[in-house]
Amino acid sequence: MKKTLLSLAALTLLASGAQARTWDAIRQSGTIKIATEGAFPPFNVLKGKELTGFEVELANELAKQMGLKVQWVTQPFDNLLIGLQQDRYDFVIASHGITPQRAKAVDFTNPHYCTGGAIVAKPGGPKTAADLVGKTVAVQVGTTYLDNVRKVQGVKEVKTFPKDTDAQAALMAGRVDAWVGDKFTGLDLVKAQKGKVVAGELLFNERIGMAVKKGNASLLKELNAALAKSLSSGSYAKISGKYFNTDVRCKN
Ligand code: ARG
Repeated sequence: MKKTLLSLAALTLLASGAQARTWDAIRQSGTIKIATEGAFPPFNVLKGKELTGFEVELANELAKQMGLKVQWVTQPFDNLLIGLQQDRYDFVIASHGITPQRAKAVDFTNPHYCTGGAIVAKPGGPKTAADLVGKTVAVQVGTTYLDNVRKVQGVKEVKTFPKDTDAQAALMAGRVDAWVGDKFTGLDLVKAQKGKVVAGELLFNERIGMAVKKGNASLLKELNAALAKSLSSGSYAKISGKYFNTDVRCKN
């Protein structure tokens, strides 16, 4: 937690550093460099050499509309916004909730989906925020799940894991009382574990956006235009349906 706060604060201070590639420079090069984590199913998943998931397919679709080839980069979640600051890629799509704190360090696109943070536990375990009193909770480090679980009064301990899948494994192994993570990820976990865990209450709602380097207004504008086009043309709905059987766009 401390480390995450510090790195975000440092990022904000650095926010006027080197020059990010403008839309013109990207268009001229013909290739856009996109970063994700690759360990956050069903949003971004690296399986062997293949990168898949809702966000990967969506970003590929947006790049196609922009007339660009894609070069993917994978990074641990906690490093993604720092690498953006260092101009190692053009944008990040990795299920970042649009928070005021992050928005000090990077610029967010319009949301590419809406979701929430949910509690999952073994049957008989905690289901609501009130149930988390005195309990141990697993979350991925650097996430809004961590921030929001810390706001719940009386939680005994929050255990952080570099990867969300490790936080899930801690729940399955009985090393924590609950996991807090994305509600769609939670649904998949419940399904995959066939009743060994159950979904509880939604702790908070969030809007998820893509991040560009602070001040990269030309790229931000192109990404928002491509997203709007995908939302209206049906290509977004198709990709969303494939992964969620529903349309996960923000409704308001
Ligand atoms: N939505 C959460 C957040 O904004 C979790 C994102 C985790 N993403 C990932 N690729 N592991 O912090």
